[in-house]
Amino acid sequence: MTSGRFLPYSRQSIDDDDVAAVAAALRSDFLTTGPLVEQFEKAFAEATGAPHAVCCNSGTAALHLPAMALGLGEGDSAVVPTTTFLATANVVRMTGAEVVFADVDPETGLMTAETFDAALDRARAAGQTVSAAFPVHLNGQLCNMADLADIAAPAGVRLVEDACHALGVSGIGACEHSVAACFSTHAVKAIATAEGGVVTTADPDMAARMARLRNHGMSRDAAMFSERDLAFTGGAANPWYYEMAELGYNYRLPDVLCALGVSQLKKLDRFLDRRRELAALYDRLLAPLAPAVRPIRHGNRPHGWHLYVALIDFAALGTTRAAVMQALRASGIGTQVHYIPVHRQPYYRARYGALDLTGADAYYARCLSLPLFPDMADDDVRRVVDTLQASI
Ligand SMILES: Cc1ncc(COP(=O)(O)O)c(C=O)c1O
Repeated sequence: MTSGRFLPYSRQSIDDDDVAAVAAALRSDFLTTGPLVEQFEKAFAEATGAPHAVCCNSGTAALHLPAMALGLGEGDSAVVPTTTFLATANVVRMTGAEVVFADVDPETGLMTAETFDAALDRARAAGQTVSAAFPVHLNGQLCNMADLADIAAPAGVRLVEDACHALGVSGIGACEHSVAACFSTHAVKAIATAEGGVVTTADPDMAARMARLRNHGMSRDAAMFSERDLAFTGGAANPWYYEMAELGYNYRLPDVLCALGVSQLKKLDRFLDRRRELAALYDRLLAPLAPAVRPIRHGNRPHGWHLYVALIDFAALGTTRAAVMQALRASGIGTQVHYIPVHRQPYYRARYGALDLTGADAYYARCLSLPLFPDMADDDVRRVVDTLQASI
């Protein structure tokens, strides 16, 4: 990336190999579902250590599939940290279940054992049955899944990881403490398939069900057929026959995009190494701006570095986040805010009323995502820090 161009907060890294892979897929027999779907799923499972991977056409679909496969619906509730993208909560509502918003740690934005417990207590007091929870590995930081599982298991709550920010982090995708982990391959994520998503699970039945739900709920597996008169002629399955036992969606990821996914996955480790280097440089260059500007403390814990977030005390600096963002933009630097607490969205306020989630509010008041993507140069980081310093 050259220093003179507009520097977005994130951006995909596409090279000639990716272009060639997509071009080859375009010239092949399949544009939609073909051999590359399975190839992408296999490569993704290998890259994440997941027993099973089911790809689909967005991270939102990747969250909706396990929500459906778990049987969430009216009368159920699911815990979602309020500091996340809308989709984590919305998929719960798409099933008809209710969202119980959990607060987050004000320093990391993550749901913790304490905030999870508090959300469960609130739901119990309101007479709600919580059957699932969706911890979010925000920015690429990992939730403490073992701690959350210790609380979830005795309460009969199944954990679905929103790992849209954490592809490539060791152990994420293997589902040691969860029933599923959900990834996005949207353009600005760790790897890009333009739009796309993948859900991983250790449960083969759940994987098979999610694969059916991704394709209209349709099955061509003769062992599943229940309408014997329609399905079989002389004991053999009819060659045209398919059956739908439950309502599904068209959440299929086309071969053309799976080609991009296979090509991008080969570079995942390199992308992450570069993100890690850039984050370390930010940490070093921002250190003199403490305590008013402070990177999230991550120690040496594994991190996906999807986003580089600085916590900034705008009030103490006598400025506002809007003014700082505008000043950076005027200097050709894009930044973003991840996220407006979802419980504050008009749809959810109308449904659940005002909630007092002070950790999320404190995180939201200070967070600013600075540019971070593998094609950035070290000089880009220097420019961001210098410009930030001049703007506060
Ligand atoms: C935490 C989180 N969950 C879910 C999603 C939804 O993913 P997609 O945009 O691929 O549908 C995103 C995407 O921004 C996300 O950041």
